[in-house]
Amino acid sequence: MVTATAPGKVILVGEHAVVYGRPAIAAPVWQVVATATVAPAPPGAGCTIIASDLGQVLQLAAAGEDEPLAVVARLALARLGVSSDPDWRIELRSEIPIASGMGSGAALSTALVRALFTQLGEPVTPAVVSELVYASERFYHGTPSGIDNTVVAYGQPIWFVKGQPPEPFTPAAPILLAIADTGIRSPTVLTVSAVRAGWQRDRQRYEAIFDAIGAVAYAARRALEQGDAPALGALFNENQVLLKSIGVSCDAIERLVAAARAAGALGVKLSGAGGGGNIIALVEDTTAAAVQAALLAAGAHRVIITPISA
Ligand code: MEV
Repeated sequence: MVTATAPGKVILVGEHAVVYGRPAIAAPVWQVVATATVAPAPPGAGCTIIASDLGQVLQLAAAGEDEPLAVVARLALARLGVSSDPDWRIELRSEIPIASGMGSGAALSTALVRALFTQLGEPVTPAVVSELVYASERFYHGTPSGIDNTVVAYGQPIWFVKGQPPEPFTPAAPILLAIADTGIRSPTVLTVSAVRAGWQRDRQRYEAIFDAIGAVAYAARRALEQGDAPALGALFNENQVLLKSIGVSCDAIERLVAAARAAGALGVKLSGAGGGGNIIALVEDTTAAAVQAALLAAGAHRVIITPISA
């Protein structure tokens, strides 16, 4: 029996604009992981994928081309040179909230790909994992930039520009985040397509906002490289205003953002697709507990305090 894991993720700055070619920074969150376990099944049973958190049981040979986990499993097996239907029972579990901006889809697929390679004793690079997982991301994102599969497969902070190799990224000093869940599930594919519809209606306005988000990403990179947390916090706030202006914030997000700021966070923004999901608050050792308490009092379903480092 083999087991493989993959982390959740946050987008520090640059979501949505990254779909339109601007840079973004993302980081893994190892406090919440997806796990894939491969165990032998009776001869002739074929390959079954059981994703209990999604309420799915897939018989690989019969699963349709619209099943992301089956698509990624088939691609991985083809890459491994397996043409038959192996007698395996694959169990997928995830602690990462679904449709909440933390990369649950990418993490499940990444754990699955890693487990398949491990089962066959084949080493696999993060680049290959990321490439295979990207194929499943279009089901979750519509027009994915590739940032989620990349950060989850590499498992380290990255500077990401669509179509370019990711740059693993080392903050000068660890930063501390409070990640708070609005409890509202918001499928990425819906917000990404709503932004696309807005962009099609008014390209000039959206391109200008994406440029401004891109500038925030460059400035955030400098702040991270210089260990300048107050500057990074201000950039989180600026990014949130820009995200709100393209319609991907919501009342629940704004409520948590306001609560975290009032409790002393250096900066707060939604993270991922928005429309619900998670917010990230940049905190310090001295403010983390107060911000966590304020977020819970304001209705957060869960708050994770996590350092982000190399
Ligand atoms: C989702 O984590 C990030 C988005 O920018 C979508 C994408 O980049 O594919 C909203």
